[in-house]
Amino acid sequence: MKNLSGKLIVFEGVEGCGKTTQSQLLSKYFYDNNIDHLLVREPGGTETGEQIRSILLHSEELNGLSELFLLSAARQILISQKVIPALESGKIVISDRFYFSSLAYQGYARGIDESIILNLSKVASLEISPDIAFLLDISTSQSFNRKINDTKDRFERESSTFHNSVRNGYLSIAKSDQDLWRIIEGDKQVSEVHQEIIFLLNEKLSLITQ
Ligand code: TYD
Repeated sequence: MKNLSGKLIVFEGVEGCGKTTQSQLLSKYFYDNNIDHLLVREPGGTETGEQIRSILLHSEELNGLSELFLLSAARQILISQKVIPALESGKIVISDRFYFSSLAYQGYARGIDESIILNLSKVASLEISPDIAFLLDISTSQSFNRKINDTKDRFERESSTFHNSVRNGYLSIAKSDQDLWRIIEGDKQVSEVHQEIIFLLNEKLSLITQ
């Protein structure tokens, strides 16, 4: 295991939960406080990863297992090319999704065996693990309402049963490791959620010393 002096912060949740907004707000907060960091997203974050993302969101030929293989390839490239170098140089990395998404979507919702996902994710993420993970939890109906005006991708077009399984999957994952996870109610005001994230981050990692 390499010596990684940086910290890895992960945001997870169902579609429309606000994790992308909150990842970006946190990145701005670090920027304003002169904290060296990197913001990445999964699937994507590299040239090849973004191409894989496009296939994942639009190809009708995929099933749960082929999704998992594509996601793992994108993850391995992102972790090796961007995340590990940043952590080695002491940066904070904010990741909009990580392998917990595979557990929730491909595992809980598509039915792929958890042990397959965990083993593959371990290999693909080169065994790095986050320092803190935020689950922005919203109900399936809120998720649906927030996405109502957008053009829907393959995952967003899935049934409410699918999205319920994703949400419940996340809640079980988060509740099984309370040292790592912080569950936040995602239906609050954007600024309120942001403040809660800063508070929880400082409580666990003491990143800001002002
Ligand atoms: P994302 O861009 O985060 O979606 P959104 O911003 O709409 O919440 O992720 C794209 C889709 O990829 C999302 O529907 C969830 C799916 N996904 C998986 O199914 N498994 C995974 O491991 C990851 C990282 C994403």
